[in-house]
Amino acid sequence: MTKKTILITGGTGYIGSHTAVQLLEADYQVIMLDNLSNSKADVVQRVEKISGKKVSFIQGDIRDDQCLHQVFQNNPIDAVIHFAGLKAVGEGQSQPMRYYENNVSGSLSLFQAMQSFGVKTLLFSSSATVYGDDGVGKYHEQSALSPSNVYGQTKYMVEQILRDIQASDASWRVGILRYFNPVGAHPSGYIGEDPNGIPNNLMPYIAKVASGELTHLNVFGNDYPTPDGTGLRDYIHIQDLAAGHLESLRYMLEKNTSITVNLGTGQPHSVLELVHAFEQVTEQSVPYQITQRRAGDVAICYADPSLAKTLMGWQAKYNIQQMCADTWRWQTYSKTILKI
Ligand code: NAD
Ligand code: UD1
Repeated sequence: MTKKTILITGGTGYIGSHTAVQLLEADYQVIMLDNLSNSKADVVQRVEKISGKKVSFIQGDIRDDQCLHQVFQNNPIDAVIHFAGLKAVGEGQSQPMRYYENNVSGSLSLFQAMQSFGVKTLLFSSSATVYGDDGVGKYHEQSALSPSNVYGQTKYMVEQILRDIQASDASWRVGILRYFNPVGAHPSGYIGEDPNGIPNNLMPYIAKVASGELTHLNVFGNDYPTPDGTGLRDYIHIQDLAAGHLESLRYMLEKNTSITVNLGTGQPHSVLELVHAFEQVTEQSVPYQITQRRAGDVAICYADPSLAKTLMGWQAKYNIQQMCADTWRWQTYSKTILKI
C-alpha cells in the first residue's frame, strides 16, 4: 500500500514538529510548509533525527497562492494539517489586521487551493479560546462560543468558514481540534517550544526562571475562586496532543466523517501546583511573586475530553510531573550539547 502524504502547514512550529514526528513514526510521508516567522529551519533535521525518516520542507507562506499552487501541483497530498498561524493574544489585540490577514485570509487561501486540487481532508488547530467564559470553566464541544480577544476571533472565524464549507460540500472531511494548554517537549529533548523573547505563557516562563534566565515568576492573581486562589488550566503534554492529531486523522479517514473535539486532559491544575511540580521534578527553585490579575484571564478553563475518548479512543496519558520533566530536559539539553 502506498504511504499517505500529509501536508503540515506551520510544520516547523511547536505543535507541528511534534505531530510530524508521530506521523513519520506511523509511516506517513510528511511535507512541512512554513514561512519560519516563528520557528527555525533546523527543526527539520531534528525531526528527521528523532524519527529516522526524511521530511520534505518548503519555506513558504499560506498567503502566497502561487506557492500553494506549486505545493499541491508537485505533491500527491492526501490530507492537510493546518497549524500555521499567529498565536500571541496580546499581539493580536495591538495588531488585529495582521492577525486577521495571517490567520483568516491565510486559511482561506489554503482551503481554496485544497478545493482546486481536490484535497478535502483537513485538521485545523483551534483553541479553547473560542469558548466564552461561562463562569463554570469546564467546556464541552457544545458549550457556547464567544471568544473575547482578536486571536480567539480568528480561530472562531476559521471554524465558521469550515462549518460553511462542510455544509456546502459533504465530500470535505474536517477535523476542528480545540486545544487547551499544550506544554512539555519531546522526551528526546531535541524539539520543544522555543518562544521568541520573554514568554507569555506559564510553562516556558517557569522554565526560564528555573534556569536563571529570568529572576522570578509573576503569578497573576491569587484571589480567584479556586482552592489556592490562582488560575486553573488544563495543561496537556505535547506528545498527547500530537497523538490526538493522528487519532483524529485515522478516525476521519476510516469513518469518512468530520469531527469537532476538545483535546485536553480534563484535569485542572493551578499556577502554584505547576510551580511546585516543576520544583519537585527538576530540583530547581522557582521564585515567584503574587501580582495583579492579567487582563483577559479567566479563573478556570479545562476540557470535558470525553467526546474524543468516545469517538476515537483518544485520551491524554501524561501527568504534570512528566510535562515538567520534559520541558526541563528541552530547556537545558537543547541549549547546551545539541548540535545536529
Ligand atoms: P508556533 O508559532 O510554534 O507554530 C506556528 C508555525 O506557523 C510557526 O512555525 C510559524 O513560522 C508558522 N506560520 C505562521 N504564519 C504562517 C504563514 N502565514 N505561512 C506559513 N507559516 C506560517 O505555534 P504552535 O504553538 O505550534 O501553534 C500551532 C497552531 O496551534 C497555531 O495555529 C495556534 O494558534 C494553535 N494553538 C496553539 C496553542 C498553544 O498554546 N501553543 C493553543 C491553541 C491553539
Ligand atoms: C493563553 C491565552 C490563550 C491561548 C493559550 C495558549 C490569554 C488570556 N489566553 O491561555 O488564548 O490559547 O495561552 O497556550 O492570554 N500565568 C501567570 N504568570 C505568567 C503566565 C501565566 O501567573 O507569567 C497564569 C495565568 O494567569 C493563567 C495560567 O498561568 O492562570 C496559564 O497562563 P498561560 O500559559 O498564559 O495560558 P492561558 O492564559 O490559559
